[in-house]
Amino acid sequence: MQDKQYLMIPGPTPVPPTVTAAMSKPIIGHRGDEFAQLHKRIVEKLQIVFQTRNDIFVVTHSGTGALETAIANTVSPGDKVLSLITGNFGERFANIARAYGAELIAVEFGWGNDVDLRVVEEKLKEHPDIKVVLATQNETSTGVVNDIAGIGALVAETPALLLVDGVSGVGAIEIKVDEWNVDMLCVASQKALMLPPGLAMVTASAKAWEIINKNQSPRFYFSMPAHRKSYEKLNTAYTPGVSLFYGLEAALDMMLAEGMSNVFARHALLARATRAAIKEIGLRLLAEDRCASNALTAVWSPEGIGADEIRKVAKNQYGVAFAGGQGILKGKAMRIAHMGFCDKTDILVAVGALEMALARVGYPVQLGAGVRAAQEVFLGRA
Ligand SMILES: Cc1ncc(COP(=O)(O)O)c(C=O)c1O
Repeated sequence: MQDKQYLMIPGPTPVPPTVTAAMSKPIIGHRGDEFAQLHKRIVEKLQIVFQTRNDIFVVTHSGTGALETAIANTVSPGDKVLSLITGNFGERFANIARAYGAELIAVEFGWGNDVDLRVVEEKLKEHPDIKVVLATQNETSTGVVNDIAGIGALVAETPALLLVDGVSGVGAIEIKVDEWNVDMLCVASQKALMLPPGLAMVTASAKAWEIINKNQSPRFYFSMPAHRKSYEKLNTAYTPGVSLFYGLEAALDMMLAEGMSNVFARHALLARATRAAIKEIGLRLLAEDRCASNALTAVWSPEGIGADEIRKVAKNQYGVAFAGGQGILKGKAMRIAHMGFCDKTDILVAVGALEMALARVGYPVQLGAGVRAAQEVFLGRA
């Protein structure tokens, strides 16, 4: 067991020292002007990152709280909800809608696949009374990214709202809330936004507000009208995670200083290098290149070797934490995150440790092959 840890899981992710330092500032009262100004600046910066002019509510709960906020305010009992499922988090979104009494039309595209737009088009035609469509931008359980622009274009032709789980994608993979017709976007702090867990963000379009204001579901802590009332005074409805707000501004400043197109390009490069390394090692990737996420890479375990066995060696002997498979992928796959505060050297460390862990569990790995493949990508030679 070693002390130095390398966190390569898809949340929580490593927090930059600048962000940690910002969070150590003395606490301020959340009803005063100082907090109001901080809140205002944060919303303006988030609007750049999310590419929207819509309202953004920064709420103090985890990503699931953001998903529940979106559902609780738009789904009334008996409403038809089309849920586009590509893995564990798509299932969760659907389950929340079910809990709020939705009549669910759940479409499973298979773990490792992305949403097929032809199916979305068909379902929307078949059920013109669909009220809400649920989609996941980055399916964290499989490392698949879905075509939100494509889904948004189809949903925009109908009266339905598009609710998007951007919890693990936003900040790593571009999203254009306004241009892509995303009515509500849900994001969480502990992924590509480089913060500890504890904050979530929810956006709402004008089309969403029409529904929110008429919604029949019981809601209190998750009430969007309550959030909006406070937000008009640059306040929050309930006590916010003040330190996390400081951290959020510092993280957003880092991202904006790097430039959002550079942030997205960095994630794309890290993903490409990771995938090249995995292929060179001889392991199978879950997602095809076409729909592979830039935020994390999911990898099948080699035949006859449990993924958790490899992860245990990587963690205990080399201090590198990879995430395990979820749901039907439990024990069969592992996930390497490259989101947020992550750079080239992190990937070389992760791949090097993975190679050693594979050697330890008896997989015939050619040491250095994966590291070299990643280096070639970073040097622009592959
Ligand atoms: C895509 C996605 N949605 C939702 C969640 C749930 O977020 P939380 O664990 O912060 O509630 C996660 C967490 O990993 C996620 O990756």
